[in-house]
Amino acid sequence: MLTRNDAALDFLLSRRSRPAKTLVAPAPSRDALLPILTAAARTPDHGMMEPWRFIVVEQGAMARLAGLTEEAGARLGKSPEDIAKARSQFDLGHLAVVVVEVQKESPKIPPLEMTYSAGAVCLSLLNAALASGWGANWLSGWMSHDRGFCEAAFDLAPHERIAGFVHIATEGPVPPERPRPDLDKITTWVAA
Ligand SMILES: Cc1cc2nc3c(=O)[nH]c(=O)nc-3n(C[C@H](O)[C@H](O)[C@H](O)COP(=O)(O)O)c2cc1C
Repeated sequence: MLTRNDAALDFLLSRRSRPAKTLVAPAPSRDALLPILTAAARTPDHGMMEPWRFIVVEQGAMARLAGLTEEAGARLGKSPEDIAKARSQFDLGHLAVVVVEVQKESPKIPPLEMTYSAGAVCLSLLNAALASGWGANWLSGWMSHDRGFCEAAFDLAPHERIAGFVHIATEGPVPPERPRPDLDKITTWVAA
């Protein structure tokens, strides 16, 4: 039987990302990351397609990704400011989990539902990291949508794309709360 879990509810009602640029060392060890990845993989997935996988980027790989972002930016004609901002998540990064959406053939499950499931994995991963006491932040950036970057950086196949980079490390300064949606504006109740 389900019982009320006040700690979980309190967490969900107060959860807040920690901006990646404010994160500091240490990042979680591989052992510390495993339960977080396990929680993230426990995500609704219509038809048990597992339309996602993880790539864990450790600190030693960050410089390579920053360089590939620089190359992609030059190829795409991005401004030096755009390139500097995009590569900064790797220049400053300690550990990031790339959530890769993996589209699979199915006569029953629409591709969009696999996309939704990959997004849900990103949030579960973020929340599991925060609930474990780590600072965490879900980022993307224009390079995450660039095929050249995705192939050079992670060897992604054509049916794969990046759903998000979830940066995880030790929290620095706690950010102030940000405005939250007005529930009345986004909720419609249908009673008949
Ligand atoms: C798909 C996706 C991509 C995002 N990419 C970025 C990004 O590249 N840069 C950024 O500053 N914030 C980005 N964000 C927003 C951050 O995750 C932001 O910190 C977050 O909205 C804070 O939410 P929270 O306070 O509810 O945890 C992205 C969010 C989502 C859902």
